[in-house]
Amino acid sequence: MQLQMQTWAEVEGYLETSTMAIMPIGSTEQHGPNGLIGTDAVTAEAIALAVGAATDTMVAPTIAVGMAQHHMAFKGSMTLRPATLIQVIGDYVGSLAHHGFDRFYFINGHGGNGATIEAAFQEIYTAHSLGSHGGENAPSVRCQLRNWWQGPKMGALIKQLFGDKDGMHATISEVSVTQYLFPEHIKSAPDMGPPEPFRSRWSDAADYRAKFPDGRIASHPGLATPEAGKQVFDLAVAEIAEEVAAYAQG
Ligand code: NI
Repeated sequence: MQLQMQTWAEVEGYLETSTMAIMPIGSTEQHGPNGLIGTDAVTAEAIALAVGAATDTMVAPTIAVGMAQHHMAFKGSMTLRPATLIQVIGDYVGSLAHHGFDRFYFINGHGGNGATIEAAFQEIYTAHSLGSHGGENAPSVRCQLRNWWQGPKMGALIKQLFGDKDGMHATISEVSVTQYLFPEHIKSAPDMGPPEPFRSRWSDAADYRAKFPDGRIASHPGLATPEAGKQVFDLAVAEIAEEVAAYAQG
């Protein structure tokens, strides 16, 4: 159930039975030699839409540009400043809360968004706690963050499929999911050699590029396949659908 494909009257009807919204959030950033720049946004959106269909839950428009300053030394990457992303999340949630939604389940495709999303949740809660969001009697909202690749059985599946080569960025698993979802956009993988082991974290974009010259971190996405992507996608949807159903009750 995609918000953008409903009429206002249909949303009004939905709110009589549920006040929950799934919020896909990703990033628009380089994903190594053969990964799509939209990887984190398109995977989060596709998983969110499948979870929404499985659980009859409304899916909000995807926040497709995230906090990706460290990828800005690669062409095509885009970023919001952390403070901007906090405001964007606040206004997405605030708009829907205005209509009566009160549970927001964020399906995230980009690890680098994590700290900013959590900070955004605290800003939203703080506005309620201080009575500055619609006054003291404004109904409370609850927000949940779920990275799609971190389900209880996902680690074992990724290990079984890719051994220890999945890595931390431009992972085999996420590139495989995009190959499954968008076979018309599979890129031929250049000979990228085995992954460099992860040595240290990065600071700004120049530092990131110096440490990870082709963009990936400890991953070997040349091994990605659409078949593996289907397995990863299906498990993510199944695990998250179960959690969304529980969140709606809790
Ligand atoms: Ni990614």
